[in-house]
Amino acid sequence: MEIVSTIKEVRDRVKAWRKEGLTVGLVPTMGYLHEGHKSLIDKAVSQNDRVVVSVFVNPMQFGPTEDLASYPRDLDADAKLCEAAGASLIFHPEPEEMYDEGFCSFVDMTGLTEALCGLSRPVHFRGVCTVVNKLFNIVTPDRAYFGEKDAQQLAVVKRMVKDLNMDIEIVGCPIIREADGLAKSSRNTYLSPKSREAALVLSRSIFMAKKMVEDGERDAAKVKKAMRDLIEAEPLATIDYVEIVDVNTMKSIDTIKGEILCAIAVNIGGEARLIDNFMATI
Ligand code: PAF
Repeated sequence: MEIVSTIKEVRDRVKAWRKEGLTVGLVPTMGYLHEGHKSLIDKAVSQNDRVVVSVFVNPMQFGPTEDLASYPRDLDADAKLCEAAGASLIFHPEPEEMYDEGFCSFVDMTGLTEALCGLSRPVHFRGVCTVVNKLFNIVTPDRAYFGEKDAQQLAVVKRMVKDLNMDIEIVGCPIIREADGLAKSSRNTYLSPKSREAALVLSRSIFMAKKMVEDGERDAAKVKKAMRDLIEAEPLATIDYVEIVDVNTMKSIDTIKGEILCAIAVNIGGEARLIDNFMATI
């Protein structure tokens, strides 16, 4: 497995693979890889001849008060995980390689990005759409892999690919959890032991809501109230949102029916803003 940092190197490798008639999968990441990322790479390796993992902490998707500077980084550990999982190439560019002087073109979206995380992170999805678009143009993959933990991101990327006629299959992969239920996230490393315990309110409220829906509850307000009550009982937790939306529009629904996304974002102890969700078709 090779690690390259320039767009030209990626293009040269992909060109050579294409000449041999090989298929290419892309796993876009911001690094500090964990089992969740590994599941995306495993899936990509099982479906493609070659797999590129991009490791790039994208400045454009962070707001001015967010954690760009402190976002965890460990390229050596990432390389070990990628190599063991069977990836062929890591693309690890510097910000200047991706955004050279005078950069002024963006990919943006309305609607889907104006709910959930888009409300408290107004520049986030413009940054995600722009960088994912650039990565698609650089790697030209057959397939690209995204985690369902970032369910809104997955919906946004699928919509962008459809709207802009990109010939790329987007593959969503299930949430991977710690043994006690907490969804795996690079940001979990921000948590002190006390906050790590408190963070379990996210998965507990998601599991409770899922059970309510499975048991036949169709009143979204009732499910959301039960979730809020559970989360608010944890003193270290501050709710950003608790929502049940139509997964195709990200619009809030009153009756739980169709393809739904139940999603939450919660700040834990002022140390980390964490998200979790479940999706269902009723
Ligand atoms: O999900 C992430 O890690 C990032 O948003 C992504 C898709 C790699 C774009 O920077």
